[in-house]
Amino acid sequence: MTCDQDLLQAAKEAAENAYAPYSHFPVGAALLTKTGAVFTGCNVENSSYGLTQCAERNAIMAAVSQGERTFVTLALFSPQKQDLMPCGACRQVMAEFGIPRLITGTSQAFKEFALEDLLPYAFGKEQLE
Ligand code: THU
Repeated sequence: MTCDQDLLQAAKEAAENAYAPYSHFPVGAALLTKTGAVFTGCNVENSSYGLTQCAERNAIMAAVSQGERTFVTLALFSPQKQDLMPCGACRQVMAEFGIPRLITGTSQAFKEFALEDLLPYAFGKEQLE
């Protein structure tokens, strides 16, 4: 079973693959699914800066692409910044898939946030009805 510490360690290892030649700000993410699987992602930048993909969204897209739809915890790590917080776009994608919980920091010391606190009053599919 994957505990919070293991998930943060997976995020740390994912950050080693970050492609961040412009910002020099590596980020790693690891997403635990209800089935017990872990999907990781890192940030992947582009010389056309706006095409940059965040670590969290890459982890979420990897999981969804493999058919996962129910999630437990997303872990986030950056060697540059303790307790890094996800950007607004990543929070919106977390809301889309109902990822209920974020942990950020290191295996030794991390903080925990609920999705409702990260993105209150979120836009969602019910508003399209
Ligand atoms: N970044 C992420 O991957 N996740 C975050 O939570 C914050 C920002 C990336 C995007 C870009 O490659 C670099 O960090 C600096 O913004």
